[in-house]
Amino acid sequence: MKQMIIHGGKPLKGDVWIGGAKNSTVALIPASILSRTMVTLEGVPRISDVDNLMDLLSEMNVQCEFKQTTLKIDPAHIKMSPLPGDKIKSLRASYYFMGALLGRFGKAIVGFPGGDDIGPRPIDQHIKGFEALGATVRNQNEQIIITSPEDGLHGAHIPLAMPSVGATMNIIMASVTARGDTVIENAAKEPEIIDLATFLNNMGAVIRGAGTETIRIQGVPKISAKAPHTIIPDRIEAGTYVALAACVGDGIKIHNIIAEHLDSFLAKVEEMGVVIDTDEDSLFVYPAGDLKMIQVRTEPYPGFATDLQQPITPLLLTAKTGEGVVIDNIYPKRVRHIPELQRMGADLRVEDNIILVHPTAHLHGAHVQADEIRAGAALMIAGLMADGETCIDDADNILRGYDRVEMKLRKLGADVKIVER
Ligand code: EPU
Repeated sequence: MKQMIIHGGKPLKGDVWIGGAKNSTVALIPASILSRTMVTLEGVPRISDVDNLMDLLSEMNVQCEFKQTTLKIDPAHIKMSPLPGDKIKSLRASYYFMGALLGRFGKAIVGFPGGDDIGPRPIDQHIKGFEALGATVRNQNEQIIITSPEDGLHGAHIPLAMPSVGATMNIIMASVTARGDTVIENAAKEPEIIDLATFLNNMGAVIRGAGTETIRIQGVPKISAKAPHTIIPDRIEAGTYVALAACVGDGIKIHNIIAEHLDSFLAKVEEMGVVIDTDEDSLFVYPAGDLKMIQVRTEPYPGFATDLQQPITPLLLTAKTGEGVVIDNIYPKRVRHIPELQRMGADLRVEDNIILVHPTAHLHGAHVQADEIRAGAALMIAGLMADGETCIDDADNILRGYDRVEMKLRKLGADVKIVER
């Protein structure tokens, strides 16, 4: 287990560069097996989810080479193999191998996905999509076995019950090489969906409408990578540094962002009174003055992202008066950070899936646990705000998705280290 040790209370200053989006990367890596030629991904974040996906690829005899932020994936000698077991459980995004294997081989055997404990996360919409394309889906010994009909998958009209990011991506991967046209209605509109569609279209796929609620896929016999693909910047990592800069910053510039991807988040931070200068691909967060309490409700994109409700919570604690409200409509049970923040002296509580936040003048260091990635991000920010030492157990969850976080924080002046326990 990794532990993050922070000595807080120091103002941070300087520049930070955002890495490639975790939630794009974890879809693009499985999607790479749809290519008949070598794939080159640029701007790949150094996070443990990527290491785990590379391990899964090597089990399929897919060669990977990861240098700096460039990942080369060569699926030329890929072997169709079942993907059961611990590696699958280590990250939720391993479910993208269902769509990718189905698209490439017409068959996928994948263990039940694991990932963050943020409440129930069904995959019924993914399954419904595969079945609509003609596949048969069986559960057997904790594995999902998905098989195409003998004449292959066929295009279909697939209305999703909710705009699920995972189901939208998985259906795109499975249908790119299906016979005929597929239409996904009520598709997720997240920027990561557009990134996947761009990546696949540049390989010869025909996907239209990504980023809107109707996505049309015209099946093609096969696709092959021709040029490197640069992954979009991570809007959640960027938002986390914005929150951190507003909490403990003495002027922080955040580089490599797409500001539009952060619109609803920045609107909330600015509503509190934080002053931000936004440029084309960077933003500057001024040291915060007196801040107002606000209400936050998470929604599918372009609404306020669920992945940023935990990182913004420590910022709410710095407001001078009033009662803040955080409601997560995507994952109502995503409250694992609350008891840990309380341990640090935060005045907040959960009532019927509503987080109530009260101004807290001082946080103190404590021994806490990062049960999931964004809870870990909230604790990391709180640790930087707190007087004294904060030890965050299970910091592995932070390293799953935050690119070179120890180095980036130190460069801003933080007293932070990650140790093996
Ligand atoms: N849902 C269903 N059935 C399904 C699929 C989803 O009921 O078949 C529900 C979920 O339970 C949830 C909602 O629909 O209430 C939205 O879930 P979605 O499928 O969009 O989420 P996901 O694909 O499982 C991705 C990200 C999450 C992020 C959500 C929402 C990845 C690997 N994960 O999850 O990221 O919170 O979209 O934007 O891309 C994170 O990075 O911290 C994280 C958890």
